[in-house]
Amino acid sequence: MIRGTILTILISITATGLFGQKFEDLAKTPPMGWNSWNRFGCDVTEKLIRETADAMVSSGMKDAGYTYVVIDDCWHGERDSLGFIHPDPERFPSGMKALADYIHSQGLKFGIYSDAGTKTCGGRPGSRGFEYQDAITYASWDVDYLKYDWCNTSELNAKEAYTTMRDALYRAGRPVVFSICEWGDNKPWLWAKDIGHLWRTTGDIYHCWECEWNHGIWSSWGMLNIIDMQKDLRKYAGPGHWNDPDMMEVGNGMTVNEDRAHFSMWCMLAAPLIAGNDLVSMTKETVEILTNKEAIAVNQDELGIQGYKMLDYGDLEIWVKPLKNMELAFCFLNRGKTPQTIEYDWKKIPIEDALSNCHIDFNKTTYKVRDLWAKENLGTTNEKFKAIVPAHDVIMLGLTK
Ligand code: GLA
Repeated sequence: MIRGTILTILISITATGLFGQKFEDLAKTPPMGWNSWNRFGCDVTEKLIRETADAMVSSGMKDAGYTYVVIDDCWHGERDSLGFIHPDPERFPSGMKALADYIHSQGLKFGIYSDAGTKTCGGRPGSRGFEYQDAITYASWDVDYLKYDWCNTSELNAKEAYTTMRDALYRAGRPVVFSICEWGDNKPWLWAKDIGHLWRTTGDIYHCWECEWNHGIWSSWGMLNIIDMQKDLRKYAGPGHWNDPDMMEVGNGMTVNEDRAHFSMWCMLAAPLIAGNDLVSMTKETVEILTNKEAIAVNQDELGIQGYKMLDYGDLEIWVKPLKNMELAFCFLNRGKTPQTIEYDWKKIPIEDALSNCHIDFNKTTYKVRDLWAKENLGTTNEKFKAIVPAHDVIMLGLTK
């Protein structure tokens, strides 16, 4: 008996000690924050990151739940003779630990970027062969979040490469949200649940409603294209392990209506809410979208159920997200160029979601209906819901008992 117990303890020490695990208590709801890439590309400096952290606080984003300030590609300088990575001394003259301290002093968390290959997508040093050393370095800088990309990986096996970095982070001992970014190429939803906290499901997003920007061997995609690529993935998401349809483009060039639809749909999809715009100079409309607490509550619902498209009428789609206490979010998405008139009879269409075990018959249960953008109560499910959804926009409703 005692021998058996000792053996079990030894096995579990070996299992966690040698092979590691991910940090389990993180990202129980979709991570919220900001990342430099979509707006600034390689143009990152410590000044930008500090100002962004300041703006995250002063704009009300921190109060709304945004936490992680993540520097994407191109912060890197060189490795020294011992192999340790250093930030670009011109762009980050005070070093990463000082920057992390500043971000932490604002009550925020600090994220960084690397790549499983020899070089990052921007041609900076990758972590291949330096995984444990880099993880120790990040821990010494007090990094809280790592986005780990997939350029220049040649014949590497994705599951093994991401497992190596997961184990390295775990060994380094500082809890880190691990963001897997291999663009869905190797179907990470099938294998990454115990490796990372979020995984990209697609190629890069681009700030257009619906488009493909072909770069030759890869493409970036408009917002609707990315949504369509989430099909059939919802069963893989949940607390601590999220499908990531990429960082947001709110405030980066689409119209206000389109940005509102984009944000609403990321909320419906239980997607990580990582803003990708310039927080220092954003418009009032952008702030209003990014800090809509009622929409964010849909995204951050503790059940972590990814929403689904319940009805498809071509340009008009109706999306549903089951929430805790049998509450619901509804999103009427108008993909088209003309307004759509809706007259929706709740009682004719029951909710039948086997995945979340959510079954609602509006003939038996009455819900209160609230418009989450107009912030108005609109009666109950006993009456038909009548509205006009503007072109390239949404109406997002919360249903409570
Ligand atoms: C890839 C990623 C992007 C960004 C860039 C940086 O394209 O998918 O999100 O990190 O690399 O070079």
